[in-house]
Amino acid sequence: MGRAAASTTEELIERAEHSCLKNYRPLPVVIDHGKGARLYGKDGKEYIDFVGGIAVSCLGYDHQPLIQAVQEQAAKVMHTSNIFWNEPAVTLAEKLTTNSFADRVFFANSGAEANEAMLKLARKYFHDRGEGRFEIIAMDRSFHGRTMATVTCTGQEKYRVGFEPLLPGVRHVPFGDLAALESAITERTAAVLLEPIQGEGGLRMPAPGYLAEVRQLCSKHGVLMLLDEVQSGVGRTGTLFAYEQEGFEPDAMSLAKGIGGGMPLAAMLTKEDIGACLTYGSHGSTYGGNPVACAAGNVVIDTVKEPAFLQRVQQAGARVLAGFDALAKKHRRVAREARGRGLWCGLELTVDGSNLAKEAIQRGLVLNCIGGRVIRAAPPLVITDEEIDKALEIIDGLLTDLARA
Ligand SMILES: Cc1ncc(COP(=O)(O)O)c(C=O)c1O
Repeated sequence: MGRAAASTTEELIERAEHSCLKNYRPLPVVIDHGKGARLYGKDGKEYIDFVGGIAVSCLGYDHQPLIQAVQEQAAKVMHTSNIFWNEPAVTLAEKLTTNSFADRVFFANSGAEANEAMLKLARKYFHDRGEGRFEIIAMDRSFHGRTMATVTCTGQEKYRVGFEPLLPGVRHVPFGDLAALESAITERTAAVLLEPIQGEGGLRMPAPGYLAEVRQLCSKHGVLMLLDEVQSGVGRTGTLFAYEQEGFEPDAMSLAKGIGGGMPLAAMLTKEDIGACLTYGSHGSTYGGNPVACAAGNVVIDTVKEPAFLQRVQQAGARVLAGFDALAKKHRRVAREARGRGLWCGLELTVDGSNLAKEAIQRGLVLNCIGGRVIRAAPPLVITDEEIDKALEIIDGLLTDLARA
């Protein structure tokens, strides 16, 4: 028997101090359970969740069909590996292909792994064609994950330092700069990897038309366009996938976060002719297509793809954005600009907001400030207007105090 379960928040944190690696710095709260878009600490305190487990918990914390699907599948079989088919995975693959540009799906467990699969796809595709294309062009200030390949593609120094030598054959260009992209493409370029909106980069949105132009450049030069929709996908921007709003289709796309509604699930989607290069034995994952995670994914896609659900995301997102805009105008000394799409909004600060999450949690709000500069709203997609208004009121108070400091 291990140690007895901690009876208080303080004891549990104390235990964590002795057993867990120090690579995270969690808030001093132990979450016990959730309901809708609210979380409850072990001490009984209630929090409005404006972070959604970092854009993950799209259906909130007590979505009964989601819970039931997970429970029922867990009671049947939790894991099969890929030496068998399982029905939830096949059904989910069909739903993803029916509702996207793609013909083929590879399941993984995290965003980094889905991206890793996308990068391997690009290299293998050109390898099999006998073309010497292997280089990846990624974007400055991007974020693609923490594996060696994805951290190499991530265009932020702070995530890469100490892990050199990085993967060869990756270069970066400024996000939004078409001329820089075109001049970086050579006969060795296999793919361009980018996010439709840079989430971890600070909710950075490209100019209208940029993504479609990247698509055109990729087609013109015979290069694959790899779209990282790990954070933007599955309803977050008000459509099932963000690319739908831009009038283009990528060659491959990664999904994670929202797709499992809280279960670890990810997917890499691509076209028939491109996916064909990942032949038997060329790539895989023990847990990929896990039946419990895919059972959750089926409920998520069935729910989120409904027009009424997506319309509500757009309405709720417009409310957050209008609120952020009003806060930017009211608190000019500390806030600069509001931006976003769907329930994915940012409020850029002019001062350091690194302490905001700690301040916010004391006032009953789970809040995130990217790089200490951009307050990000990525709440469960089921958040109510009342919860949004309450969250905005708390942020208003936080900014008032920040301006005074
Ligand atoms: C755009 C994007 N890609 C990839 C990842 C990595 O996902 P994961 O942490 O599930 O590996 C993230 C995580 O924040 C992300 O925002």
